[in-house]
Amino acid sequence: MKISKIDYKSDNIDAINKEQFAIDVLTGLSASPKTLQAKYFYDDTGSKIFQQITQHEDYYPTRTEFEILNTIKHELAELIGEQEIDIIELGAGDGHKSQLIIDGFVDHNCKVNYYPIDISEEAMLMLEDNICDHPNVECHGIVAEYFEGLRLVREKSTNKQLVLFLGSNIGNFDRVQNQGFLRRLWMSMNAGDYALVGFDLKKDVDILTRAYNDSSGLTKDFNLNLLTRINNELGANFVVDNFQHFGIYSPLLGAMESYVIASKPQNVYISALKRQFHFDAFEPIHLEYSFKFLKTDIDFISQHTGFEVIKHFSDPRDYFIDSLWQVNK
Ligand code: AVJ
Repeated sequence: MKISKIDYKSDNIDAINKEQFAIDVLTGLSASPKTLQAKYFYDDTGSKIFQQITQHEDYYPTRTEFEILNTIKHELAELIGEQEIDIIELGAGDGHKSQLIIDGFVDHNCKVNYYPIDISEEAMLMLEDNICDHPNVECHGIVAEYFEGLRLVREKSTNKQLVLFLGSNIGNFDRVQNQGFLRRLWMSMNAGDYALVGFDLKKDVDILTRAYNDSSGLTKDFNLNLLTRINNELGANFVVDNFQHFGIYSPLLGAMESYVIASKPQNVYISALKRQFHFDAFEPIHLEYSFKFLKTDIDFISQHTGFEVIKHFSDPRDYFIDSLWQVNK
């Protein structure tokens, strides 16, 4: 489907983003232990590798959530019971899951205005291929930060909203960050609006570990690509082969953690920062948390951010929950 674009990019956004990236890299590599932010995985190469991860047999979350959505799409439309709805998706991915939800509403004769919001133009292009034409569906892509995008939709329309935040993207946030994020989401919505939020559940550690250490090395490439991105965009000289990928579950945190670890002592120069960074042998850079949840965590989080749980939708193996919430105000 051709996506009409509400493009929010200002002229100098690339320069601003690059400066922010440089500053975040400086901050992260100056910290002890060193760290980089997971949101920077998604340059064009990173987005493509992630898409391959989602199709790999070792990575269960995407497949499982797809199953759940396929099973519940009609019940969802029935529960919400509107004749017209704005479906707003925060980080839409390739659109396969979005299409299922749109289908559910269309099958119930509900008019759908679909607003995918993503900071990456590339992501919007990928989406375009996978959202189908239908007379009852309008699609407006918004290239912006999530909350800017939500504000733009709010300015255009007063329809009831269903906000999608799928894929356990929320797992990248720690407890403090996810409560801040959801409360901000709550503030941007009206009483009675809905959110469907995807949570990856706690499960057998072997299954978790395999999902973040896939047998084809895609996750390894995904992690190391962040170093390549720093080389490309900030003029650094990371030798990627000198770093080892390490993905491990921490029961204490309740999260998968990803690191790259220097395999020998080395220096890396980053010309955009005019600085050299030293790595001791076996010094780690922390890249990502992927928090895993219990059902009770989901109830707690929603309650504390102003949402009422309408229903938890799970798969037969209890690997994943898409939780339907309604805004209480
Ligand atoms: C997109 C954040 C949900 O944490 O599972 C996949 C990203 N990282 N493999 C996740 C990811 C390594 C993914 N999220």
